[in-house]
This record gives sequence, structure tokens and C-alpha cells, in this order.
Amino acid sequence: MKRFTKCSISTALMLCMAMSAVAGCTQTDVTDPSQSSEAQQTEPAQAEPEDINYTIDNIRQYVVGVDEPVELEDGSTRPMINFDNAATTPALQPVMDAVNDKLTMYGSIGRGYSIKSNLSTQIYEETRDKVLDFVNADSERYTCIYVNTTTDGLNKLASALIESPDDVVLSTRIEHHANDLSWRERCHVIYAEVDDQGRVMYDDLERLLDENPGVKYVAVTAASNVTGYVTDVHRVAQMAHEHGAKIIVDGAQIVAHRQFSMIGHTPEENIDFFVFSAHKMYSPYGGGAIVGLKDVLNQHMPTFYGGGIVDIVTDNQVTYKEAPELYEAGSPNYPGVIGMGAAIDVLEEVGFDDISAHEQVLVRKLIDGLKQFDNVIIYGDTEDISDRVGVVTFNFSDVNSQFLANKMSQLGAGTRRGAFCAHPYVWRLMGIDEQEAMGFIGCDSAKTAGMIRASFGIYNTEEEVDEFLEILAQALEDCHNNPILGADSDIPAAY
Ligand SMILES: Cc1ncc(COP(=O)(O)O)c(C=O)c1O
Repeated sequence: MKRFTKCSISTALMLCMAMSAVAGCTQTDVTDPSQSSEAQQTEPAQAEPEDINYTIDNIRQYVVGVDEPVELEDGSTRPMINFDNAATTPALQPVMDAVNDKLTMYGSIGRGYSIKSNLSTQIYEETRDKVLDFVNADSERYTCIYVNTTTDGLNKLASALIESPDDVVLSTRIEHHANDLSWRERCHVIYAEVDDQGRVMYDDLERLLDENPGVKYVAVTAASNVTGYVTDVHRVAQMAHEHGAKIIVDGAQIVAHRQFSMIGHTPEENIDFFVFSAHKMYSPYGGGAIVGLKDVLNQHMPTFYGGGIVDIVTDNQVTYKEAPELYEAGSPNYPGVIGMGAAIDVLEEVGFDDISAHEQVLVRKLIDGLKQFDNVIIYGDTEDISDRVGVVTFNFSDVNSQFLANKMSQLGAGTRRGAFCAHPYVWRLMGIDEQEAMGFIGCDSAKTAGMIRASFGIYNTEEEVDEFLEILAQALEDCHNNPILGADSDIPAAY
């Protein structure tokens, strides 16, 4: 049971306005020159943030730092091409504005006795409903638990749900380590294989469920951070539920790319738990969420203890609150929650149909451009890309990927290189077996097999893809001309 007093929205707004006036908030400050009649006559009218309609065509203007020049190897400067959005995304201006704006009225969440504390608590609690709406989850059955990241959320969930090392979790070989090791280190995990193109094999999931009647949870990613493949999680949910298991979905790579719904066509297709990070959706203030079934969450608790999760602690007894508080020990990350809420608003306004269509254009263009190069290896299905979000991974059979990615970075194109915290999947795609992989222990990263990943955000453009391909051509030439970097070196190529 919450101990703070909730105030109504109108009361909160009145309080906010009163406090803004007292604090000399710029919106009401008559001494602000931009508010003077002279300024109003000479300067073009600036749209108030709420008047701006964010679209796929104008969103680039609202990405913080997108045109910030960086210094290249030769001393020249230029804005860099950022194709590393699967790792993290830059802030959106409206997200940053929302955080800065709300921080003027920041007070302790759920614990303080002050107007600011009440207001912050109200906004913090109301954002839970926004998150639930974002993934089409009803607040009767589902709750929203704030977490720091997807990794934090999956670990918290695993620490709560897993009751014995003999519990069986079914996962897949496509997973990020966050959705593999969180389970692997706590119980017995079995894995469905991927096919030759790197897609999850649904037949294998079904087979493993048939052969292992004790599977308690099925843990799958909604979209791969290596190939961008989108998993049909509702199909997997149906399989899991038919076999008496619950489904946990890693949503890290889907939330900024495709509309996600906890609800399927039938109740069996509904998702039980969904976890994601806000920093992958243009709010780099930390934060994220678990959306999950309240009744199940209340039958368990994470091995993560502290303040905020208890009703009463005596010398010898502890009584705990229910979810979501039960899963949120410690002081809340208010900017993380505000940023996440603002990012949801913008993404929904831009619209996932447009986001997805734009990404498909970029993926198609990049894949087609890469295919023009000799010795290129592109991972995943390069013909049917309809089930891929904006991620393209590649290698060259005659150049080491670490050297190439470094060179590209020096020329102004940012990517990621390596095995992307999904080693078993990346090395499967590269045809590297367990024995060869064991040889990477203690190796330099250039001698540890990896690929280059280009991943798109909503603000990337077709012109950037063209420039990226030009930079790639230049970088390849530099690598070929440099014996230390090129095919003649002892650094393995295609690694
Ligand atoms: C598919 C997937 N799952 C989980 C994670 C972990 O996310 P975080 O680092 O925000 O915890 C990532 C990060 O790249 C990811 O791509």
C-alpha cells in the first residue's frame, strides 16, 4: 500500500504553476526578452513544443548532437554518421526538454512530504500507465516495474521467477547474453537452434517443448541485435502456453522500431513479461521497464532488497509490498522515467508504420550497396528483409573487421564491431564452432571473431547510407594498402 498522498492533475498543475511563478520559471517570466513585443515582431514565431508534430521527415532536427562536428584522423571536422543505434540512441530534444522541465519540480518519490515530492510522485506513477498503454497492456492484469536497463530487468525477473537450479527455461541461440546468462546462471536452460539464415527455428522450439514437459519459462528476444530479425513472439507465446509455460520477451531491440503488443489474437498468444531499456529509444537517462502479470509477480520476489519495498520491518519480521514496489528497492530514477515517458510520446507521434517503412528503405539500400563490394559477407537474409529491423551486419573475407571499423570511425562513420554480447549467435553465423571459440579466450579483440554492425535510428537518412558506403570504400582501400591492416598481416581477415 502506498503511503504518499496523491493529488489530482488539476491540483498538481495549479501547484506547478504557482511554484513556477515563485521560482521565476521562464515561461511566466515577463523579463524574458523573447517574450517582448519587439522580439515577437522581428523573430519568426517559434512553435511551442506541444505544437510540433514529430514525423519521420522532421525528426532529425530534434536529435541532440546530430550535427555536432567530430575531429577526424586528418584533423578535419564533420558531423559523424552514427550507425550504432542498436547499442544506444542519442537523446531527442523533446525528451531532454521534458527531463529538464520536470526537474524544476523534482522531489523525492513516494517518500517526501512536500509539494514537489507529491508532484514528482504523481508524474512517476502516471508514467506507469503510459508504459502499459505503449505495449497495449491493461492495468487490471499487468503492472509496470521500473528498472535500470533490460539487463537489470531480466536479472530481476529471473531472480524472482527461478525457484530452483532444476527449473527449466527454454531460450534460443539468437539471444543477447542478457536474456541467456540471466537464466543460465540460475537454472537449466535449453536452446532452440537457428536456421541457415539465422532465424529462430519455431519447429525446434515446439520440439523442445514437447520433449521437455517441465519447461517453466520460454525466454525469447523480440528482435535480434545481430541480424535485426523480429521473432513472432505471439506464436511462441501460444506454444509456451499450450505446454504450461510462461513467456518472457526481451524487448530491447523492438521498442524503438516496431509497435509491440502484449496482447495477441487469442489469450494464448498474450505475452506474460516484456522487458526493455529507455536508452535504446532516445532517452539516455537510464531507466526501462518490466511489464508483467501482476498475479505472477506477486507470488515471487527478486533477490534485491532495500528500502521502498516493505510495509513493516521489525527486529525479527518483514512484510513486503506488492508489485510494482516490491521490485523497486532503492531510490527511483526520476529523469529515467520522465525521459522514457517523453520518448514514448514522440515515437508514437512519429508512428511505427513510418518508422518501420523508413528503416526498410535504409536496410535495403545498405545491403544493396554492400553487395557491390568484392569479398563482402553479409549476415542474415539479404533478399527478404521484411522481418528485419534496422540492423545490418557484415564482414570482408580479406580484411579484419576491427581494423576496418576503426578506419571507418576515423573517416567519420560510427558502427559497432565484435560479437555484440551475443557470442553463440554471432559465431554460429560465422561458422565458428565451440572449439574454435574456446581459442578466443584471452585473445586480443582483433583476433576474436567479430563482425561490423550498422544499425539505424529514426533520424538516419538515405544520404548517410550513400556516404557510409563511400567511407567504407575508402577504408577498405586504406586497409588493403596497409600491410599491417590488410590481408597479409597475421591478424585474421574475416574476423
Ligand atoms: C537484444 C538485446 N537484449 C538486451 C540488451 C541489453 O540491454 P541493456 O544494455 O540496455 O541492458 C541488448 C543491448 O544491446 C540487446 O540488444
